Amino acid sequence: MAGAIACGIDGTPAFIMKVSIIIPAAGSGERFGGDKLSRDLHGRPVLVRTIEAFTRRDEVAQIIVAGPPDGFELFADRFGPVLGFHGVDLVQGGRADRWETVSLALQAVNEDATHVGVHDAARPCLSEAMLDRIFEAADRLDAVIPGVDISSTVKEVDRKRSQDVAVTDALADAILGSETADRLEAMPVTRTVPRDGLILAQTPQIFRGDLLSRVAAKGMMDGVSDDASAVEQLGVDVHVVPGDPCNIKITQPEDLALAAAILSGLRSGGL
Ligand code: C5P
Repeated sequence: MAGAIACGIDGTPAFIMKVSIIIPAAGSGERFGGDKLSRDLHGRPVLVRTIEAFTRRDEVAQIIVAGPPDGFELFADRFGPVLGFHGVDLVQGGRADRWETVSLALQAVNEDATHVGVHDAARPCLSEAMLDRIFEAADRLDAVIPGVDISSTVKEVDRKRSQDVAVTDALADAILGSETADRLEAMPVTRTVPRDGLILAQTPQIFRGDLLSRVAAKGMMDGVSDDASAVEQLGVDVHVVPGDPCNIKITQPEDLALAAAILSGLRSGGL
């Protein structure tokens, strides 16, 4: 973590990129069922694994972690020493949503940052090859995000018209009553969405200069689920480079075991 140094033709070192990476880590982990960032991933908390991927990069000059506003002191107690060791800046995130957390963290970006990147705290499985692609593209383009193709067919469903289907077990129902039976939510399909030209957006997303701050100042971040969508509203071209199917976001409890397996593969060079 220092800012990339390139040698000019006369051999003198010249700085190319000084990226400030914002890591929003203020989510409640509702879908996971608790604090996923503190869970163990090969001997370190998930959040620390995520940060380590950036401390190894010369392009990264600053890492900002935005913790939860509720229980911030607890968060600082838990992660403060290791974040301090890595030279990470710790700020308070927002309550409402991810975009609020990113908007607040933008205020802590170094004045001399050439780029600002945002990466989900819950995506710890970053490969060097993917980071190489993203930083290389970000050196030439205003806004760069990783994306992966969609392999499954995409359906739109109407959740409001979902039906509750009881899974029947005659013997159990007779003893326990049918109210305790397992239930399945069945949602009607409203249409099949053509997937040509669609990709799944990942992070890190990297933006040139103060692009993201300008977008935030105009209130364009409000309500967005990824930062690139706010930049798109400004009319700036956002470019997608190949992401990595292994760059999963730990969302459900079973994702943790998957992340551990992926990390083993990345470390052994098998992925
Ligand atoms: O909820 P979701 O999985 O989309 O969250 C993505 C990222 O945004 C996570 O790293 C989470 O900690 C973060 N987040 C945040 N502030 C919030 C909500 C989510 O930093 N208020």
